[in-house]
Amino acid sequence: MPVRNLRRVNGLTILEARDPRMRQLRRAGHVAEIHGNKVWNSSFLVMQHLKRHPLPKRTRVLEIGCGWGLLGLFCAQRFDCRVHGIDADANVLPYLQLHAEVNSVQMTAERRSFEQLSTAFLAEFDVILGADVCFWDDMARQLYNLIRRARRAGVSQTIIADPGRPPFDALAERCAARLDGVERLQRRLSRPVRAYGELLLT
Ligand SMILES: C[S@@+](CC[C@H](N)C(=O)[O-])C[C@H]1O[C@@H](n2cnc3c(N)ncnc32)[C@H](O)[C@@H]1O
Repeated sequence: MPVRNLRRVNGLTILEARDPRMRQLRRAGHVAEIHGNKVWNSSFLVMQHLKRHPLPKRTRVLEIGCGWGLLGLFCAQRFDCRVHGIDADANVLPYLQLHAEVNSVQMTAERRSFEQLSTAFLAEFDVILGADVCFWDDMARQLYNLIRRARRAGVSQTIIADPGRPPFDALAERCAARLDGVERLQRRLSRPVRAYGELLLT
């Protein structure tokens, strides 16, 4: 049986590491430094949520810690959203652009960290999405402050998904204790991947 270099998930093509185009990027020195070396399962949890709660057409979406950007590309493809990604690691961005090309979907992206997202920058977006972006202790504080700036900026919803790591739990508890209208949803998936985790909606 031939070895496949890609998989199809939620209407998107995701290239495997052995795909020649992926190998070429690695050979060119684009090696992820902060865990952006694959598509993480939390992205699929947010996609599942958005299938049940679709975004309005042309929603301006910011994907934070976007990695390869499959979640953002899903929003652009499925709901015709205008999507921008940010990631602290510039090495992930060529993988995002490759997946945008392979899927014939447009998404812009740039290197920026959570703490570099000012209120004025966030005011350009309606919705913020982040999948598996709260894995170090300090990220709970950074993301809490980001959520507060986003609210001030008029962002209508922020969704962060996580398999349930302690920093995410700290973030979710802090949001629930200090902010209005916070929801925590447990989610389980068996297809397209087996995944379990939580969504924090603020
Ligand atoms: C576990 S990966 C998840 C990638 C993607 N969201 C997914 O679900 O496949 C975490 C991503 O967050 C990025 N990241 C880590 N710290 C960050 C920060 N302070 N600001 C922005 N991005 C950050 C990493 O470079 C990495 O791409």
